[in-house]
Amino acid sequence: MLIVVGGARSGYGPESEIRTAGDRHSPIRTASSHGRRNAAKPILDVRSAPEIGHLECPDMTAEHQHAPIGRGDGAAISLQGVFKRYGSIVAVNGLELEVAPGVCFCLLGPNGAGKSTTMRMLTAQALADEGRIRVLGYELPRESKQSRLEMGVVPQLDNLDVELTCRQILMVFARLYRVARGERAAAVQRALELANLTARADTIVRELSGGMRRRLLVGRGLIHQPRLVLLDEPTVGLDPQVRQELWSLIDALRASGVTVLMSTHYIEEAERLADVVAVMSAGKIVAQGTPQELVRAHAGEQVLEVYGPPAQLAQASEIVARNGWQSRRSGPALAIMRAESLNGEAPQGVRRPANLEDAFVALTGEEIE
Ligand SMILES: Nc1ncnc2c1ncn2[C@@H]1O[C@H](COP(=O)(O)OP(=O)(O)OP(=O)(O)O)[C@@H](O)[C@H]1O
Ligand SMILES: [Mg+2]
Repeated sequence: MLIVVGGARSGYGPESEIRTAGDRHSPIRTASSHGRRNAAKPILDVRSAPEIGHLECPDMTAEHQHAPIGRGDGAAISLQGVFKRYGSIVAVNGLELEVAPGVCFCLLGPNGAGKSTTMRMLTAQALADEGRIRVLGYELPRESKQSRLEMGVVPQLDNLDVELTCRQILMVFARLYRVARGERAAAVQRALELANLTARADTIVRELSGGMRRRLLVGRGLIHQPRLVLLDEPTVGLDPQVRQELWSLIDALRASGVTVLMSTHYIEEAERLADVVAVMSAGKIVAQGTPQELVRAHAGEQVLEVYGPPAQLAQASEIVARNGWQSRRSGPALAIMRAESLNGEAPQGVRRPANLEDAFVALTGEEIE
């Protein structure tokens, strides 16, 4: 039976390997030959999900808490000295990254920083040129098929087959992720509810809106109740309400013990969700910590925003330069960092608490959405 979902180059998850059920690259066959070291304990009870808006939060009672992750008790994800080059472009440049089990870890970086390339290496869709990668205790790329069975992936690029219905896509993935035959229908139903696509279950993807397609990707990534979820820019293209609902879902996943690694451009997303933020720039982590730690370390406590006509801002910039203060343009204003320690030369302005965006710009020199 031939099953082709999406393109091998366009996304993540086992679909890039799916050709036939008997293919030697199929995760179905691989898993049976290796066995799962830690049979996934269900965390999203498909029968008892309370309905919360467009995206449902799973029932996160103690019985749904996860067992320790993968093989051994180490990090959920570990990258050591990882390089990935595309010709002369160094997409990932000596990356060192460790994600502890059960945390929501956020890669925050500007366009081209190497976030998606990192994600693709974690699913072995891209192979590192150098370095060591371990996911859920599995060594990549050698054991990538095992690790992929235990993780859920929501890619940045939509790799859905537009001719299939939501239900068909979810059913294919339920099978590929080895959801037991008798549980597949319930798992599909559950994923449809998570994505609030129950009413569109039999609509083909081509006829869905962009936001619906992203929600389907999220439901698809969670169909097998994975213990590690990779979300690459999960809320791009979602309306504000659905974005907030997705944040609730991510928060609930983390509360249940699922490890979440997400990449984002949205400062607010990182600030609200992340236990740990790693700021990525030019293929490297340039700073890492809780959002508050990053703000304190790289932007201080307060920011002074100076508003005025260009001549006044130019004058303020001169004062800033003379004193060696750290500043940036923030929309129409000049924002001066560490306002709590400025001297009497400081121009008139409005003081506000420093935030993660200030720290991000200080670290990367780039403005962000
Ligand atoms: N398949 C590829 N072939 C050639 N270059 C690539 C490929 N994939 C990524 N790159 C390059 O690697 C760099 C990092 O890209 P990547 O997609 O990882 O960035 P990103 O941080 O995810 O950016 P964005 O926020 O725009 O999604 C970029 O310069 C990109 O052009
Ligand atoms: Mg990307």
